[in-house]
Amino acid sequence: KVTKNITVLPGDGIGPEIVAQAQKVLQAVSEKYGVNFEFTEGLIGAAAIDATGDALPADTVTACQQADAVLLGAVGDPKFDNDPNAKVRPEQGLLAIRKALGLFTNIRPIRTFNALLDQAPIKPERLEGADFVIYRELTGGIYFGAKGKEGEDKAYDHCVYERSEIERIAHLAFKAATQRRNKLTLVDKANVLETSRLWRKVVQEMSADYPSVEVDYLFVDNAAMQVILNPKQFDVVLTENMFGDIISDEASIISGSLGMLPSASVGTGSSLFEPIHGSYPQAAGKNIANPMATILSVAMMLDHLELFDAAEDVRKAVDFALDEGFATEDVNKAAPQSTTAVGDFIAAQIKDTVSA
Ligand code: IPM
Ligand code: MN
Repeated sequence: KVTKNITVLPGDGIGPEIVAQAQKVLQAVSEKYGVNFEFTEGLIGAAAIDATGDALPADTVTACQQADAVLLGAVGDPKFDNDPNAKVRPEQGLLAIRKALGLFTNIRPIRTFNALLDQAPIKPERLEGADFVIYRELTGGIYFGAKGKEGEDKAYDHCVYERSEIERIAHLAFKAATQRRNKLTLVDKANVLETSRLWRKVVQEMSADYPSVEVDYLFVDNAAMQVILNPKQFDVVLTENMFGDIISDEASIISGSLGMLPSASVGTGSSLFEPIHGSYPQAAGKNIANPMATILSVAMMLDHLELFDAAEDVRKAVDFALDEGFATEDVNKAAPQSTTAVGDFIAAQIKDTVSA
């Protein structure tokens, strides 16, 4: 039996609840496909601060480095958000694990779900068929530049990018475009920012190596509007760290809920899979959070582990649950199901379906 070592980082808020559903799904895949998943749990975020004083303990990093893949729930706790003097913050754990694993590319696929088309605040005909993927740079830019305070009333965050940091993610994005619809859109603010002008120059130069790919360039403010106005124009969207963070939350409107969007972070070492949403503290412990974004992150993990049929099963099972209206309150207000019920339903569906 093949064994895959999965390091699981439940994190904070709804993290433990949604990750538990994703593990049920992996268990179902294990039974159906005869793969063995060995789970190791690690601490991160507020949970890690409470237990150890550190948002990312060293043994969590080791466990992630040794894993075939990492599954992460969510990180963040409001008790830190309104304390400007907090010395350690949960989010530092997330940023540090991205850096430690060299996860320079965060891949966020944006698609519609037939069952949710009517639910978005945008006309269904604008959305139907929208299918693009955001390549968000994840270990550079303003998130990681020098930051600090000068006295009480001045603070700064530097945005820095080097050519090599742009090239490595841009190569992945160009390649993805060649496997999709051969279109790449660079989102930047090149009319104002020097870093954006470097991104544009590098991407322009690289485009010569990918002659089949049509490249276009959008300022981020315009892109924010286009994502809602005409999402079908996009195929691969390439952008820096903070623009990618903002545009991807916005793009979740296309899918129908922030609770639907998965992501994969890849780089030089182990890959990490996590939903794009946060720790949703208001819902923690209530068994109401949508586990689908995490379950779809598991599908991305299965693709990464080259268990392609299993990945397809997971996606089909999620679609089936949505078609049946078997979903949490964010996507089914009229008759919501619990987090655990949705996890059980999807896991059972995977076991039931005959593999392709
Ligand atoms: C995300 C999150 C994180 C980010 C936060 C929690 C640090 O919003 O993964 O999109 O900004 O990258
Ligand atoms: Mn975000």
